[in-house]
Amino acid sequence: MIYATTLLNNTHKKQQFKCGIRMLDDYLHTQAKQDVKRKLAVCFILADENDNVKGYYTLSSSSIQRNSLPESIVKKLPPSYNNLPVTLLGRLAIDEKYMGNKLGSLLLIDALKRGYENSQTTIGSLAVIVSPINDNAKQFYEKYGFIFLPNSGKMFLPMDTIASLFP
Ligand SMILES: CC(C)(COP(=O)(O)OP(=O)(O)OC[C@H]1O[C@@H](n2cnc3c(N)ncnc32)[C@H](O)[C@@H]1OP(=O)(O)O)[C@@H](O)C(=O)NCCC(=O)NCCS
Repeated sequence: MIYATTLLNNTHKKQQFKCGIRMLDDYLHTQAKQDVKRKLAVCFILADENDNVKGYYTLSSSSIQRNSLPESIVKKLPPSYNNLPVTLLGRLAIDEKYMGNKLGSLLLIDALKRGYENSQTTIGSLAVIVSPINDNAKQFYEKYGFIFLPNSGKMFLPMDTIASLFP
């Protein structure tokens, strides 16, 4: 079994992808390629040997307002930063045929690893953030330590926490 993610390309059969959430299906079918072209997101694909898409996720640069973060984190940061740099995990979805086989976890860990490595070597980023699409998604991310931010509805996982996953 090969678990390597690759950048979205023209050989991927994305039109058949179905995760049960229309917005996430439509995104891959019609918008992901455009977003990549416009540099709004990078889209990573987990595909089978015939290029059928088993799952995908997107990453983008983003920022989060200082006052939406917990005091325990904010107090360690210089006051001059009103907006703090973060990495946005914009979308993550697994095709219905493959759900429940830990591929969602695998893609999440792949995304966290990329975000963390980039924050070490390429572009500053304090945390990975997500906007959970519903309560199920919120529970999924909570399993991996994401903290819910009530002011913004976003969830975030500090890079320091991610670092401890990849010693
Ligand atoms: C959420 C999703 C990515 C999970 O992928 P998956 O491959 O089915 O999940 P995994 O097999 O990796 O499960 C990992 C853990 O998360 C839990 N989990 C999986 N889906 C869950 C859900 N919808 N709600 C709560 N927990 C969930 C599993 O029980 C498992 O827990 P365990 O390790 O204690 O057994 C997938 O169901 C999906 O694509 N859903 C539709 C799109 C979506 O909600 N995306 C998320 C955010 S935008």
